[in-house]
Amino acid sequence: MPATIVIGAQWGDEGKGKVVDVLSAGADLVVRFGGGANAGHTIWVGGDKFVLHLIPSGILRPNCVNLIGGGCVIDVTSLLHEIHSLRKAGVAVAPDRLLLADNAHVVTAWHRTVDQLSGAKIGTTGRGIGPAYADKARRIGIRLGDLRDGTFESNLRAQAEFHGAVSRALYPGASLPDFDEQWSLLRAAGVELRDHVRDVVPVLVEARRADRPMVFEGAQGVLLDIDHGTYPYVTSSNTTVAGALGGLGVHMTFQRRIGVVKAYSTRVGHGPFPTELHGEAGERLRQKGQEYGATTGRPRRCGWLDLVQLKRAFAMNEFTHVAVTKLDVLAGLGPLRVAVEEQTDGSMHYVEFEGFDGDLSAATSLDALPAGCRGLIALLERELGARLAMLSTGPGREDVLAVD
Ligand code: IMP
Repeated sequence: MPATIVIGAQWGDEGKGKVVDVLSAGADLVVRFGGGANAGHTIWVGGDKFVLHLIPSGILRPNCVNLIGGGCVIDVTSLLHEIHSLRKAGVAVAPDRLLLADNAHVVTAWHRTVDQLSGAKIGTTGRGIGPAYADKARRIGIRLGDLRDGTFESNLRAQAEFHGAVSRALYPGASLPDFDEQWSLLRAAGVELRDHVRDVVPVLVEARRADRPMVFEGAQGVLLDIDHGTYPYVTSSNTTVAGALGGLGVHMTFQRRIGVVKAYSTRVGHGPFPTELHGEAGERLRQKGQEYGATTGRPRRCGWLDLVQLKRAFAMNEFTHVAVTKLDVLAGLGPLRVAVEEQTDGSMHYVEFEGFDGDLSAATSLDALPAGCRGLIALLERELGARLAMLSTGPGREDVLAVD
């Protein structure tokens, strides 16, 4: 398997976890490079539902080593919760199966508190992501290596002082974390995670030199990129192929670059959404696709595919392949619509494909799909200049047509 990167081509929630899960069957290493527990990957294995926020989806495959890179921000409470629930479900999470970069930053209670106090105008997940990246830039961040070594007290104090002062001024009466309690909690987490934390650069370099099969798992989506997304309605990290290298700190040639496209669009939080469906039509799509945030449970805003946006995302990332997810959700919802052009008044011009009914998961080849679905896929391949890698036809691991 060539080094493969999987990136959401929309606003996140495209179903990347499932694509990575399928690909990781043939991978030695599955790697995350950005974001934190704001992501939520839902994977169904044999009727069991796993929601992973930080740990790469490859953890569910015994053949995979999983690595969380230095560009990520780690909420250690959330990470330990994931480790414990996976172990409870019988999944091995030994230190040699989950490697944590010693330079990844820690999300602290102050970050979560400040995010919850200030994040409403963007509609953040409230997981402390933005404040953690901000403290990294302020040079008062705590890294996993500091946590492991117990050398984080002065920066934790600096965070407590800075966020305490700002919060007391801006949000009088807000309740703030207790320093001693947080120090002890982080100290205990550092001890528990000690054997997982290391310099991951040699691991990545060795894997590259040996040409080992690797999957790089993006979080969020192209339009949520801090620099290239719909600022200010974005996350705080670089979510694109270009951003992956920054998060890893190790050069990789991603021979296969997969842009994951949900067969319709969704977005959580505020910000522009030209193809959004309001009222009953949006609600039908939300119910049918169970479009509620995997991290926050918030209802996702729903709408049609936006080819204008997708073309830009594919060109930016030079995606070689497209993976289409949740096409099955559109069954029974009438004609399939795709916005192909923005008109001078700002409204979108749509093309339509014939709607379909019934269960797509029975189809064992693309030819067996209803005509409208084939038309939609042909349009995407042609206009995006990318080959179809995979078509997901239902939520299960087996509901997938792996094409290329
Ligand atoms: P933050 O990443 O929590 O700071 O949130 C910033 C914006 O990114 C908000 O609109 C969030 O809803 C959105 N966001 C963050 N992570 C995800 C994700 O995994 N899926 C979809 N949207 C996300």
